[in-house]
Amino acid sequence: PERRRTAPDILARKGGEPIVSLTAYSAALAPFVDPLVDFILVGDSLGMVEHAMESTLSVSLDLMIAHGRAVVRSTAQSLIVVDMPFGSYEASKEDAFRAAARLMAETGCGAVKLEGGVPMAETIAFIAARGIPVMAHVGLTPQAVNALGGFKSQGHDAAAREKILADAVAVSQAGAFAVVVEGVVAPLAEEITRAVAIPTIGIGASSACDGQILVLNDMLGLTPRVPKFVKRYGAIGEAVASAVAAYAEEVRERSFPGEAQTYKPRG
Ligand code: KIV
Ligand code: NA
Repeated sequence: PERRRTAPDILARKGGEPIVSLTAYSAALAPFVDPLVDFILVGDSLGMVEHAMESTLSVSLDLMIAHGRAVVRSTAQSLIVVDMPFGSYEASKEDAFRAAARLMAETGCGAVKLEGGVPMAETIAFIAARGIPVMAHVGLTPQAVNALGGFKSQGHDAAAREKILADAVAVSQAGAFAVVVEGVVAPLAEEITRAVAIPTIGIGASSACDGQILVLNDMLGLTPRVPKFVKRYGAIGEAVASAVAAYAEEVRERSFPGEAQTYKPRG
């Protein structure tokens, strides 16, 4: 398209052709993703995959802004959604609005994402009513890893399924334009997708969702260990290693730089 996709464009895709999305964090990789997907998430997973943190809990608003800017600047077509980091939105809806407004103003992104269902519904309504499109995130919510007892799939008993369904319905009714459903059993993903008026974006949530997302570094083969729900579509880590090995060998044997890479005096 000649203009960037918007949150309403994504909302309008409910029940239609699957929505394609990936994360991206840098100006190096985002331009390759941009023409091929519907939206790009600058996820707080960047703390783990780009900054070697143990969880996403240490990611700051400033770090999200730095990466969000880089991705907005280096793309032209996709809607850019930026994650609200842990601690920037939970205490009050006013805090949440101020943090979301900084993300929007300082990155130029088109929407923000936050984790949580029923307890975040009021916050989502408050932010959305003030002009900021909000994507929600339910099921396995990584910012709650300590409360969940680890990165584990969710919805294995009826009570858990009931609770996650209520979370999804609450964020939809609150005015979120889409909801990420992460790490849940397939029947629950299906039930949520039927129950809510907004697109469900699945990650480890079966093919029943209205769209899919993966962490770019995981699907490209840039991360050493990946969860069950990841499929590797590339072996970029191996490609990097073989390029670096070839360079190292040529430097050591003085065959790089060669004639073609060497300046000669003009006179
Ligand atoms: O931070 C992230 O990458 C995410 C997606 C996995 C949905 O929240
Ligand atoms: Na995230």
